[in-house]
Order: sequence, then structure tokens, then C-alpha cells
Amino acid sequence: MNSYQKSEELFLRATKVIPEGIYGTRKPGFVLPKASPYFAARGAGGHYWDVDGNEFIDFMCGYGPNVLGHAHPEVDAAVRERVSQGFSFNQPTEEMVELAELMTRLVPIADWAVFAKNGSDVTTWAIRVAREHTERSKILATKGTYHGSHAWCAAYPAGVTAEDKANIVYFNWNDLEQFERLVEKHRGDVAGVIMTPYYHPACAPSIMPAEGFWKGVREICDREGMLIILDDIRVGFRVHIQGSYAMFGIEPDLICHAKAMANGYPIAAAMGTKEVLGAAEAVFISGTYFYSPMEMVAALTTLRILEETDAIPEIARMGTRLKEGLESLGKSHGYNVTVSGPAAIPYLSFDDHPDLYHMQTFCREAIARGVFFHPHHNWYICAAHTDEDIDRALEAADAAFKVVREELGG
Ligand SMILES: Cc1ncc(COP(=O)(O)O)c(C=O)c1O
Repeated sequence: MNSYQKSEELFLRATKVIPEGIYGTRKPGFVLPKASPYFAARGAGGHYWDVDGNEFIDFMCGYGPNVLGHAHPEVDAAVRERVSQGFSFNQPTEEMVELAELMTRLVPIADWAVFAKNGSDVTTWAIRVAREHTERSKILATKGTYHGSHAWCAAYPAGVTAEDKANIVYFNWNDLEQFERLVEKHRGDVAGVIMTPYYHPACAPSIMPAEGFWKGVREICDREGMLIILDDIRVGFRVHIQGSYAMFGIEPDLICHAKAMANGYPIAAAMGTKEVLGAAEAVFISGTYFYSPMEMVAALTTLRILEETDAIPEIARMGTRLKEGLESLGKSHGYNVTVSGPAAIPYLSFDDHPDLYHMQTFCREAIARGVFFHPHHNWYICAAHTDEDIDRALEAADAAFKVVREELGG
């Protein structure tokens, strides 16, 4: 059994000086209190170590950014080189232009890019661009989808006013009829729709777009003069070098990228077509750190590696091995388990136990065996995962399914 003594001591210290001790998605209650680490220490490739020295195969990858693996030598060397020359200036550097050039080449549907730090920065800015372009207020969004921590999309009501959300109208994923009805209800005042390429909520299986769903959304948006904002922050370059629109056949007007674009360095991008360039120029975007070349160098290097190597197909291959292995092991232990979502971003569920208790027990046992599976969130595969990692993960999963059966039955 792992010891989490240092994690717990640090957490107690943290509660004295930090609200909640650990806030947001990293809080112990969102994972498994006492059965998973609270504080990390270091990482290498597809593995990381917590402050107590426990080692894990990392199937969360920092909640998505680590696409090439921890401490990637090329990415980190490029960043160190940049840092040695300074990286906080009164003007942007050449890397900003290079990155916009690279990204508009890789993502051919887009003609321009702007850079920020977090996903939330660019989803919030993108909906403002849609409003500016259309001179309308309302944004349609799918219920239960995470677009960040800003007030308009906050998942929890504390500190959020009714006005903050007044112009966000929710519909159910894949429900084109409801989408159409809402567009009709608010006709003339809907600027656009923000959606992820497929549905990836927390605590529930991922759902792919139904046949014709995205095409239907595009047709309605064209007819009504609305824009499509694709939130590709989680999926993006992990599944396709052009981003997910190429994989799913989506035709967005604006695209938000972050996570997998810079292997963990904090950078996000909003991209768009030339039709919405005027609005993009009108809507103010800035942040003291938005122009930092340090993260741009990380993005340039990461995207170049993703383009020039077989990293993306390898991620899909590893993910497919894990998915098939888990589904078959589940069956051999008498459970219907499904791994949903693309292979690179798997979500495991016990089909007959949506209450998550089986899932929590399964993940507790996997974590105890050195495999970091999250019980409430999709997982991530990175290019540093090896066949041996997948073998070890499946071995741990076999033992974990056995304990679930012993403790909880069918
Ligand atoms: C789909 C999606 N959109 C937006 C965000 C917000 O990104 P950030 O946490 O960098 O603000 C996330 C973060 O998990 C996300 O998964």
C-alpha cells in the first residue's frame, strides 16, 4: 500500500494558508481522499512521482497538457534556451509570428491565431468575438460541458450572478431538435454556439456526435447567421495534427486550443476564419503574460514534434490497446464496462453502476498498484507511454477488477 503521509501533512499546512487547501479540479475530494496523492513532486515521460516517493504511470497527463510526456528533453531544452535570453519584454517576439504561421498551416480552416494562457481565457474571448461579429447576445452551449472557470460557464453557482449567465442558453448534446427550437425561440439574438467536438462531461461516459449532428448544427448556423465556436481545448492536437475538426468533419468559425499544444507550458490559442477577423480585431484581448515567448517556444517545438513524428498515431495505438484490454478484462470479471471517447482520451465506466462507486473502488485499487486512473474524469494517453506501461496498467486493472468483485459484487 502507498503511504500518503507527506501529502497529508502538506495538505494540512495548505489548509491554513490556501482556501480549501487545494482548490478546483485538483482538490482531493474530486479524486479519492486518502487513496491518491495530493501533491506531486516530479515526472519523467509517462510516469510521475508524488511527494511521498510513490511512482505512478500517469494516465491523466496533468489533465491533458502532457502530450509528449513529462520533462521532454527537446521541448524543455528549447524553453531553457529562450529563458536564457529573457522572456518578459515590452514587445512580443518573433516566436509569436512563427507560432501563428505554424498553427494556421496546421489548422487550414483557420486564418489567424491569438495567444493567451488558459483555456478559459480563449473560450471567454471567443464568445465575445462571436457577439461582436453578429451584434447579438446569446450563446448556445451544451448542458454539462466544461468550458472553463469564468463566470459565464462556471460549473458551480458561488459568486456567479444571474446576469453572468443570462445570455447562455443550454441544450442537450446531440439534440438537434432542441437546438433548432432554442434558435427559433431566441431568433435574431443568438450569436453562436460553443461546443466540444464530442461530449466529454465529468462523471459520465463520453458521447460521440450522432450521424449528421455537426452538419445539422452548421446548416442551422448558416441559415441563422450564427457562428460555431469549437472548444478543442481537451481534444485538439492529441487526436489530429489539424485539431479535432479534421477528425470529426466540423466546420467551425472559431477554434479554442490549449492543453496538448505546448506539452504543459501555459499557453492557449484562439483561431478563426478571415470572415471573423474584423470582430477579432475589435474585441480587446491582452494579458501581461500573453506575449511570453517561453510558452510559444514550447508550443512551436511540441507541434513540430507532433507533426514530424508518429506521436499522434502512437497515442491512438496505445489508447486502443488500453481500451480493448480494459473492456475484455471487465468482461472476464463479469462486468459490462465501456471505454468511451477517442482512444487517446478514454473514459471507463461500469455500465450497470452509474453511481461511480464501482469506478471509485476500481481506481483506488489501480492507484494503489501504481497506475493513476481518475475515477471521475476522462484519462489521457501521451506519446511517452510504452507498451510496457499498457501491460502494467492492464495487470493492475485485472487485480483491481478482482477487488471490486470481492468488495461490491456484480
Ligand atoms: C473542453 C475544455 N474547455 C475549456 C477548459 C478550460 O481550460 P483552462 O482550465 O485552461 O482554463 C477545459 C479545461 O479542462 C476544457 O477541458
